[in-house]
Amino acid sequence: MSHWMMPCLLLFTALVMCFGSGRAAETGPATDDRESQSLSSPDGSIEVRFTLEQGTPQFAVWFEEGPLLTPSPLGFHFKNASPLIGGFNIRSVERGTFEEVWKPVWGTVESIHNHYHEMAITLVEEASLNREMKLVFRAFDDGLAFRYVLPEQDGLHEIQILSEETGFSFAGDYSVWWSPADFNSYEHLFKNTPLSFVEAANTPVTLETPRGVTICIHEADLTDYAGMTLRNAAISRKGAVHPSDSIANQTLLCELVPWPDGIKVKGTARLQTPWRTIQVARNPARLGESHLLLNLNEPNRIEDTSWIKPKKYVGIWWGMHIGKWTWHAGPKHGATTDQAKQYIDFAAAHGFPAVLIEGWNRGWESWLSGKNEQDYTRPYPDFGIEGLVVYARERGVEIIGHHETGGNVPHYEEQIDAAFAYYKRLGIRAIKTGYAGRMHPPGQHHHGQWMVRHYRMVVEKAAKYGMMIDAHEPIKDTGISRTWPNMMTREGSRGMEYNAWSEGNPPEHTTVLPFTRLLTGPLDYTPGIFDLTFNEYKPGNRVHTTLARQLAYYVVLYSPLQMAADLVENYENQPAFRFIEDVPADWDDTRFLAAQIGNFVAIARRSGNEWFLGAITDEISRRLELSFDFLDPAGDYVVQIYTDALDTDWEHNPAAMEIGTYRMKGSDKLQAVLPSGGGLAMRIVSAEQSAVALAGTTGELPDLSSFNNTADDRVTAYAMIRPFGAPNRVRHAAIGRPIQITQPWSPKYTAGGLGALVDGLRGGANHDVSWQGYEAVDLEAVIDLGQEQPINTIGAGFLQKAAYWVFFPTEITFAVSSDGSDFETVAWFRPPVATSEDDFAIETVTRDLAGTRARYVRVRARNIGQCPSWHRGAGRKAWLFVDEIIIQ
Ligand code: NOJ
Ligand code: CA
Repeated sequence: MSHWMMPCLLLFTALVMCFGSGRAAETGPATDDRESQSLSSPDGSIEVRFTLEQGTPQFAVWFEEGPLLTPSPLGFHFKNASPLIGGFNIRSVERGTFEEVWKPVWGTVESIHNHYHEMAITLVEEASLNREMKLVFRAFDDGLAFRYVLPEQDGLHEIQILSEETGFSFAGDYSVWWSPADFNSYEHLFKNTPLSFVEAANTPVTLETPRGVTICIHEADLTDYAGMTLRNAAISRKGAVHPSDSIANQTLLCELVPWPDGIKVKGTARLQTPWRTIQVARNPARLGESHLLLNLNEPNRIEDTSWIKPKKYVGIWWGMHIGKWTWHAGPKHGATTDQAKQYIDFAAAHGFPAVLIEGWNRGWESWLSGKNEQDYTRPYPDFGIEGLVVYARERGVEIIGHHETGGNVPHYEEQIDAAFAYYKRLGIRAIKTGYAGRMHPPGQHHHGQWMVRHYRMVVEKAAKYGMMIDAHEPIKDTGISRTWPNMMTREGSRGMEYNAWSEGNPPEHTTVLPFTRLLTGPLDYTPGIFDLTFNEYKPGNRVHTTLARQLAYYVVLYSPLQMAADLVENYENQPAFRFIEDVPADWDDTRFLAAQIGNFVAIARRSGNEWFLGAITDEISRRLELSFDFLDPAGDYVVQIYTDALDTDWEHNPAAMEIGTYRMKGSDKLQAVLPSGGGLAMRIVSAEQSAVALAGTTGELPDLSSFNNTADDRVTAYAMIRPFGAPNRVRHAAIGRPIQITQPWSPKYTAGGLGALVDGLRGGANHDVSWQGYEAVDLEAVIDLGQEQPINTIGAGFLQKAAYWVFFPTEITFAVSSDGSDFETVAWFRPPVATSEDDFAIETVTRDLAGTRARYVRVRARNIGQCPSWHRGAGRKAWLFVDEIIIQ
């Protein structure tokens, strides 16, 4: 083991409670505390409470004295054995504490504190079979995890899991960021809905409570098991919706990806499941800094890691996605010797250690044709691989190899040894793999156990050959890079390529990823597109961001193999490219400076003595005041700032950028103003080092205050930009129902007219299109659901955009009725009214009605009437903007 391991303290105090046999416990009192066990995190903030409820195991989670998860189910159904689901006693409980500090080979920080309390509960069936099932809980300061262990025993040898009955019953109808369950792909946008609107989701799933506590559900150490998806308990396995009740609506159940025969997991006892992980943090920023998943994986198994090196790369790649080139040979073939040389020359000239080359090998003609049959050891004739690796090596550059399986895994497995040996002989030490296409054999899924085994086999084999892996269409990251640090990065997300050939990724997407996908590990998003519209190749597609934001991605979207994805000619003579040259692909420290999931994020990362900062916003222009708490407050620093210019507009002028160098003190603050789809990137160097590190910037430098002084102008300029964004779709019971509105909405802001409040589209950032506006009059809307029915929640969305004279109502009430005349008020709200013209918020006020029966729902909202006295429109007519009355 390496010198860096701090002495670790492993202190297992066993508190073994033995009941002898199942029968002994059977006679015990039902309330005996032997049937409830709890475990707290080292700092005491997180607590898991395990109970046997009449023999049925359950767990609940508390955070800072409040419940997050109410008693939630555990257990299994088997194909070949009776279920392990109830009728248990506790046979023993073992407790322990573990603490270590370990150093990852690469990562977002240089060392990781792994500190937890553990509780291992062995359950035994009271009746006939007397089988044992063990549950191991670990409580960390940043979350909690548990796994099942099925020990070898009579009555349980060969295991065929039909379902894992794990569930997560949340204590409220929390706000959730989720992407739809898909057994073959994680390439979806995240939606933000109330928990009760979640149907079925891939993990990670991230939730936020009304108190702002953030929770992420995922898994760790997925080694020989099926991937987990989550399904709302209100939806049966066949997809039929149960009569909704709020408890079921707030419960997400484990749904494992099946084998072709419907079995989910095959194995033999002793079998342990992956860890079921529940990351918990006081706010999104702390969630973003969690290392829970890595800590739940085994230590590094690769002895000599000297060949594992994070790096930036360019590649023959984007050209294929935008249609300039093809992967297969022909007149537009991308991977030709000459083009490869151009990329190698560029990499050498700009200090990039690696070049990815896709489409180099024979067989691409068969890709996506139904059966991918590529040859992984034979290059196309116009690609002189033997000479090219030498050409590259002479220039200090390495080639990153590429294996696209197209999903034909047996075909790849037949060749994999030869393919790895071939690359090794050529001196290639990193391979990008791909599984884009229908899985072979049919019936297998990308995320099932069979593929989990395959993906792991590839990583372990790569380690033997001394190869780093960048997997596309991968299995989700569950932290295994701790054990196999050659598993560098992966896709498993809707990456940059979607901008090349689909409607693209909205800016919001990358403000959600740091709190969802990126919590699980590095992401090969492939940032750095400079020609954002690529009209020469594909006039109908584009990237929906500004150029400054592409730079910010190098800090925000972590990947130890980090691509500069554009055609290299688009980087020539671009001053902004300097930031990508400077920014490292490996970090010693990471701090989230400002964070709201799906709204904005600002992250600072350190490499050696230098800090880099990236800040991005979603569709909405925002002003962020950022402090540098991580710097010496008295220290002198020189910073380079890459920011959107005053006339930057993601739609019409995305590449306009200002680059400036300033002096500052560590105690200074940055006024970052970001336009819709924009971003800011920054490099921070101590004043002493700046002469060397920032060569070329000499002379008297302006103070940071001269940059900050431009903030107000930016706010004004950016307010004019049309925000990017598709309407926000929701599903609920009032969609398409008759609605009566007492006072008229303004013909200027109709949102589509009478049905707009019940059309399933929520108001977004752009107040011009999706909101119904009421000028100085109150709102009164009555919706007829057609028949009396149980109502779980009523919600209504309101906009506050003080700069546009739009204010929250001073009062909102919800009322329900069975006959349409006799209404009972069920909710009353007083939203916070703006205090400054910068105030901008979208608020969906929601009330839980726990199944109250009614046919009619009435929403009243009182218009503030006039702009407040401090406002530039003081005394003039004010607006009330409403959209979507959501009834569940
Ligand atoms: C999909 C991958 O995400 C992309 O990066 C790659 O270029 C294609 N598959 C072809 O392998
Ligand atoms: Ca999104």
